Amino acid sequence: MSVTVRVPAKVNVQLAVGAARPDGFHDLANVFLAVGLYDEVTVTPADALRVTCSGPGADQVPLDRTNLAARAADLLAARYGRPADVHVHIAKDIPVAGGMAGGSADAAGALVACDALWGTGASRGELLDLCAELGSDVPFALVGGAALGTGRGEKLQPLETGGTFHWVFALADGGLSTPAVYREFDRLHEGRSVPEPTASADLLTALRKGDPEALAGSLSNDLQPAAVSLYPALADTLATGRSAGALAALVSGSGPTTAFLVRDADAAESVAEALTASGTCRTARTTVSPAPGATIL
Ligand code: C5P
Repeated sequence: MSVTVRVPAKVNVQLAVGAARPDGFHDLANVFLAVGLYDEVTVTPADALRVTCSGPGADQVPLDRTNLAARAADLLAARYGRPADVHVHIAKDIPVAGGMAGGSADAAGALVACDALWGTGASRGELLDLCAELGSDVPFALVGGAALGTGRGEKLQPLETGGTFHWVFALADGGLSTPAVYREFDRLHEGRSVPEPTASADLLTALRKGDPEALAGSLSNDLQPAAVSLYPALADTLATGRSAGALAALVSGSGPTTAFLVRDADAAESVAEALTASGTCRTARTTVSPAPGATIL
């Protein structure tokens, strides 16, 4: 017997970052949008906890107990006083270390899958609390759709979206470490006051109306200068997508994946072709949003 859960990637349509807190985290106004790139997490009974991974970038995924999906299985087992005796297999399609919360998605997937396999029957609220213990982006992978994350991003408020948004994602060579990007953010803001992060009213309206032009005008990512500072070639990728007709371009989360909002599926195809042909990224993917959260298949 096994259970498979499908989990979505995310893009942050707004990532407003405040000053570093005493605990090292940053307060955020983080508008998450789940997009249709998915990992699948399958759990099967085994003698002991074991993680395997297949798909693009699988060789960069840790397979020991530091893997966030393994930590999710461990955490649920500990909470319910049972052994974490499962084989967790991750079929990867979300870019690894790409700023699209793939590791967080795997954690949410493993939690939901183990809960179903073991019949633990954790409530939605308990699962969300466990997700928040695992990482700032994990609760959103559970709920999907669109949501405003405050605190370090883990306190979620669901948001309405009025239609389908079309996206192109340009995948970079290599990854960026999220803590390193936040450290670079701190370095770039040294000696300056950082305003309180607040969600943009215009952006929330654009999401609610399903209006891609308006959304394009209000996309923002405070981590973008830090990501571009650590990975300067991203500036060329962003410029290439813009000149190929994207409505807007931004770094996805802490990067180095870049996100391009486009008008429709045809525009997505032509922007993806231009990005791939330009040599400024490894490959480009087209998809739509919003996408559902963790789903048992
Ligand atoms: O919560 P998570 O483990 O995903 O965070 C990874 C790292 O990103 C943290 O260790 C911290 O350096 C940084 N971070 C932050 N502020 C946040 C979220 C993450 O500084 N709100």
